[in-house]
Amino acid sequence: MKILITGGLGFIGSAVIRRLIDTTNDEILNLDAQTYAASPEAVAEVASCNRYHFEKVDITDQAAVAEQFGSFVPDAVMHLAAESHVDRSIDGPGEFIQTNIIGTFNLLQAARSHLDAHPELAESFRFHHVSTDEVFGALGHNDAPFGPSTAYSPRSPYSASKAASDHLVRAWGETFGLPIVLSNCSNNYGEFQFPEKLIPLTIIRALQGESLPVYGTGENIRDWLLVDDHARALIEVMKRGSLSETYLIGGDSERTNLAVVETICDLLDERTGLLASGPRRSLITFVTDRPGHDLRYAVDASGTKEELGWTPSVSFEQGLADTIDWYLNNQEWWQQILEQRYSTTRLGTESTT
Ligand code: NAD
Ligand code: TYD
Repeated sequence: MKILITGGLGFIGSAVIRRLIDTTNDEILNLDAQTYAASPEAVAEVASCNRYHFEKVDITDQAAVAEQFGSFVPDAVMHLAAESHVDRSIDGPGEFIQTNIIGTFNLLQAARSHLDAHPELAESFRFHHVSTDEVFGALGHNDAPFGPSTAYSPRSPYSASKAASDHLVRAWGETFGLPIVLSNCSNNYGEFQFPEKLIPLTIIRALQGESLPVYGTGENIRDWLLVDDHARALIEVMKRGSLSETYLIGGDSERTNLAVVETICDLLDERTGLLASGPRRSLITFVTDRPGHDLRYAVDASGTKEELGWTPSVSFEQGLADTIDWYLNNQEWWQQILEQRYSTTRLGTESTT
């Protein structure tokens, strides 16, 4: 099977590519613009495989996208390219509108033209849009988890742009008969996650004995899923998911942000010993809250589990411990990012422009 993957140098896309190359005979074309969030190192282990191809393409460039469909002739698209960080969407929403909405529109149009040119693919083709549970908005403590029929209520520029792209994908399915499938997943963590996100940022700063910024009271809740478990689910959705369906994917691991940060501190103390100043929990610093900070995300993934037989492979505690070990063993990767691209400073405050 020939699969065109967008955003395959990113955190999740690269995990999908590594798994596809390792476990299938599929041929992959990775289209990625190589923004600040891209990590060629994350696909280094598969880069020399003759079933892997890379093209530096910005999905906001409609002609370039169309050209890649024409030359590769994919059987399926897995669309992951996006601006993905909520705090950056507060500082500069424009890129989110361009990539997440216009970029998705370009891919949908290219997929339509592609099927017009190759009607023999119409039955089997899939356009899989990889999305987030954040499109559903914020849950209260006693609310039921998000399900496939939960109404959309995005509250950040990031989640609004992803909601818009979900709507476009469904509209192209309904109006133009494009064979689509969608998935909405909770917060991922694991190897090669860019250190702007809570878990890698905390691991790296705690290792260096720096303050650990917890927004607001730290009582906000996220549901966490190991990236490779998400990648496994995405491959199932793309290959076996029902036409026009939405699959919710989650880890059944709701934790407060404070609990996550405290656990990272304790695991690092165990592995590397206490700091001269004492346990790393003393580095925790409560900082000004994120504007529009969603209180809680939680996902009911039972439908996905039943239909596709997928289930997370590890507990959050085991996955987090493994992730910490990965960051300890791959310091060169993140040190280079800290030196060249992002030094873990605070993003997403209203005072930033
Ligand atoms: P990421 O930020 O790590 O990677 C995004 C990738 O997309 C990068 O390699 C970047 O270079 C590329 N990209 C950005 N703009 C592009 C453009 N205009 N053209 C081509 N490529 C471009 O993101 P991620 O965490 O891997 O997320 C991947 C997808 O999964 C996103 O659509 C995101 O909304 C969704 N998602 C993420 C999470 C999460 O916890 N990270 C959870 C659920 C869903
Ligand atoms: P993040 O990793 O940015 O993911 P998302 O906003 O998509 O859920 O943040 C996860 C949670 O952690 C979120 O509630 C915001 C919070 N957070 C902090 O408390 N401190 C930080 O330094 C960061 C980056 C996030």
